[in-house]
Amino acid sequence: MTTNGSTDPRFPALGFGLGLRVDHYEDLLADTQTSQPTRVDWLEVLSENYMIPGGRPLDYLARLSEHYPLVMHGVSMSIGSTDPLDRDYLKQLKQLAASVQPAWISDHLCWTGVDGTNLHDLMPLPYTEEALIHVCARVGQVQEILGRRILLENVSSYVAFHESQMSEWEFLAELTKRADCLLLLDINNVFVSGSNHGFDPHAFLAGIPVERVQQFHLAGHSYEGGLIIDTHDATIVDPVWQLYAHAVRRFGDVSTMIERDDHVPPLDTLLTELDYARAIAAPILDKAAA
Ligand SMILES: [Fe+2]
Repeated sequence: MTTNGSTDPRFPALGFGLGLRVDHYEDLLADTQTSQPTRVDWLEVLSENYMIPGGRPLDYLARLSEHYPLVMHGVSMSIGSTDPLDRDYLKQLKQLAASVQPAWISDHLCWTGVDGTNLHDLMPLPYTEEALIHVCARVGQVQEILGRRILLENVSSYVAFHESQMSEWEFLAELTKRADCLLLLDINNVFVSGSNHGFDPHAFLAGIPVERVQQFHLAGHSYEGGLIIDTHDATIVDPVWQLYAHAVRRFGDVSTMIERDDHVPPLDTLLTELDYARAIAAPILDKAAA
């Protein structure tokens, strides 16, 4: 599977984006009238929010797509489950992609249920050869159905399996190579999981192949009962910004976006945070280019 005829499997980078949230529909459209280029380079759309035909959300999406490149991000693929792949869901995903024309489609390396029960959570996998073979086969089926490479995101986790035979990053590196897929590297999730499980986030990043990283997520988190929880409800903390700088040094010009799902602030507040990401990345990328 090739993307642009070169040996690099990645899609072209898009710059600095935001997760599209209802609160910002009007402001993002207004921005297209006053700022050229717009202050947000691209938008990440939560796929499941737009799978119901018709209505205002799809109307907004169509209008926004005239001005912003879009990517689709889902939570329902359950690529790691032992339940059969949900063909109806994948059909809807493909239909949405046909209308949105996203630059790429992502979901998570996780399972969300088993035996027909949905846990409504993104659960980590045991990092075993057996799981790797299982997930690679399913990624192959999904990519065949969608007709494109997909991105899988590293989840934040609070539990681990005794059965694991390799680290999460070794699993991800092997998965992307064998299944010929790409990674959505969530920098905050690396930090959160590292803190909860006691691994070095830098070792995680060092183990990920550069040519497989298509996108970064940045987000805030909170502390609860001795654990760090990936709540997406706060500003990004300094250690995550430092890890982001390290990631830019290692992976280069990777499309970066901020996720905020709760306590969503005004667009201008998020744009200030996005400009902070730009300010961190610019000198590192300039130095690398020189
Ligand atoms: Fe994320």
